[in-house]
Amino acid sequence: MPDELSLLLRSTRAESLARAAPLTEEDAQLQSMPDASPAKWHLAHTTWFFETLVLQPHLPGYALFDARWPQLFNSYYESLGPRHARPQRGLLSRPGLAEVRAYRTHVDQALAALLPQASPAVRELLTLGCHHEQQHQELLLTDILHAFSCNPLLPAYTPGTPAPSTPPAQRWLAHAGGQLDVGHAGAGFAFDNEGPRHAVLLQPFEISNRLVTNAEYAEFIHAGGYREPLLWLSDGWALVQAQGWQRPLYWLDEERAFGLHGVQPLQPDAPALHLSFHEACAYAEWAGARLPTEFEWEAASALPGFAQASDQAWQWTRSSYQPYPGFKAAAGAVGEYNGKFMVGQQVLRGGSLATPAGHARPSYRNFFPPAARWQFSGLRLAR
Ligand SMILES: [Fe+2]
Repeated sequence: MPDELSLLLRSTRAESLARAAPLTEEDAQLQSMPDASPAKWHLAHTTWFFETLVLQPHLPGYALFDARWPQLFNSYYESLGPRHARPQRGLLSRPGLAEVRAYRTHVDQALAALLPQASPAVRELLTLGCHHEQQHQELLLTDILHAFSCNPLLPAYTPGTPAPSTPPAQRWLAHAGGQLDVGHAGAGFAFDNEGPRHAVLLQPFEISNRLVTNAEYAEFIHAGGYREPLLWLSDGWALVQAQGWQRPLYWLDEERAFGLHGVQPLQPDAPALHLSFHEACAYAEWAGARLPTEFEWEAASALPGFAQASDQAWQWTRSSYQPYPGFKAAAGAVGEYNGKFMVGQQVLRGGSLATPAGHARPSYRNFFPPAARWQFSGLRLAR
């Protein structure tokens, strides 16, 4: 009878291949901007993670699939040797997709051999490898969507039409505030950045039961939101001018938007997607509200009626990405996972339509620079 970790490992490894399955070899090679990676690279890098952090140190006699590859598929781990430059991942035509698939099989077989003899510490690393791969599964979709958006044919990743969105009517949920504990608690997996659990003091606040919709965001556009500097943070207004922002990233006009289903009519009631932190802030300012802090979001997520928590869009918060009190990065390469990115980024809470099932939780902290628009990012108002 396979245990829970064995099932997680198998389903996670299979899900990556399933997400890459609709892509041609040429699709899987594309890198449309320095922030995005080719699908082929995601498939290989998640495999490299297991090979380097789990198999090499913990499976006696494990032989690297190819000793030249680690430098291609190391993402950002300084302690694990030299790396191919991130903006040039799209230049790696070799190894080909078939070789990367063979790499995955090789590593999967070694992981299966390791699992029955894995110590608790190794099982923890295997679990981390699965949650790491799940993060890349979402990136695989956001990155291919950006690549496809650069093609005038605007190809659909998923043919067919999306399910209609039927959110509840907007209302404000009241939270009494006070001193309460935030951060991960309990036995399940969490990333290191979700702890230590600690007390925060919240003022009484209200938060919207749902996300801002396309129709609501269109009103902001019609009202001249992108032309009114007083609604914007200074850095945001500079971006509006420098990059000519007039609408969310993938809106073609106010009627149609590009997405995983290709070009589709904008659903008025669906959450507005592909907003930067700056657009979220400007909208909130125009609406006479604000973004919640990450701790308000976490506290409110337990309120009855709190809808669209993690199935539609990541939700920008007003919190910059900081270590929690007492946070200490782990020793060794794993310590480079989160801690070193705690500057210049905003926290997003929730989860999106591209987040793998079971990946997110209320204490989960996603983070991106405030100008990032290619993620499935939207907003929920607070006041
Ligand atoms: Fe990674």
